[in-house]
Amino acid sequence: MSKYMIEVRDVDKEFNNGKESIHVLDHISFQVEKGEIVTLLGKSGCGKSTLLNMVGGFEKANGGMVILDGNEVRQPTRKCIMLFQQINLLPWRTVLKNVQLGLEEERISIEEMNQRVNDALTLVGLENHHHQFPHELSGGMQQRVAIARALAMQPDVILMDEPFAALDTFNRYLLQDELLRIQEKLKTTILMVTHDIDEAVYLSDRILIMTSHPGEIFKDVPIKLVKPRDRAGEDFHYYRKRILEDFELSGSRQEPEFII
Ligand SMILES: Nc1ncnc2c1ncn2[C@@H]1O[C@H](COP(=O)(O)OP(=O)(O)OP(=O)(O)O)[C@@H](O)[C@H]1O
Ligand SMILES: [Mg+2]
Repeated sequence: MSKYMIEVRDVDKEFNNGKESIHVLDHISFQVEKGEIVTLLGKSGCGKSTLLNMVGGFEKANGGMVILDGNEVRQPTRKCIMLFQQINLLPWRTVLKNVQLGLEEERISIEEMNQRVNDALTLVGLENHHHQFPHELSGGMQQRVAIARALAMQPDVILMDEPFAALDTFNRYLLQDELLRIQEKLKTTILMVTHDIDEAVYLSDRILIMTSHPGEIFKDVPIKLVKPRDRAGEDFHYYRKRILEDFELSGSRQEPEFII
């Protein structure tokens, strides 16, 4: 049994618009251990979402492969759930029914479904909001419903594409803490994308800094601070500065590389 939950092996990706190809990801390899939180950090357009989509089975690589818990990823699976920046709640369904959504095609009893939905909503602190509709909730609460929906499916991996980007600082901090508390309990493996260096340092066991055009892994930086972390602490500041410096260095190749 591999200790890795995710293995990205030599993944290469080009997009073709009919006239030209754009080389987006250049032979990317990295691993994520079971229970780790790893963040992809990189400039806009460097291929973070594309990479995440490939791990989730939504996008195919031109070369290389992604292995999830020992099996090659060929399509999306219930073991690996994606949380998007845009919160995809159904407005005509209550909180409860939105969380049930992911379980409706699973072969489980009504009792188990109710139990999993209740547990997930309690984990994200929405146990008293089962019967409200999305428009009655704040942005932070809506994102919690989306997290609960993912948790109810009991995935091994959660992929998060800038999940807190639309929230104000206070709500973002609150949800980051909640995510850490839940992850500590369930030991879910998390691969996430963010633009926010502070968020990356606060949450991650490792940060993968990417270059652009084409996207490559520029640095793999372990964050060796115990959690929960003190955002005002000297160690935190050290990592924030170091990541910022690496991040700036990673942008040295600005021109997109086109293959005609
Ligand atoms: N379906 C597609 N067809 C053609 N080009 C695409 C497609 N999806 C992404 N791209 C291109 O691939 C590159 C990487 O896009 P991607 O969305 O992965 O970047 P990103 O790092 O997630 O950026 P951001 O931080 O702005 O979300 C961009 O140049 C984008 O225009
Ligand atoms: Mg993106």
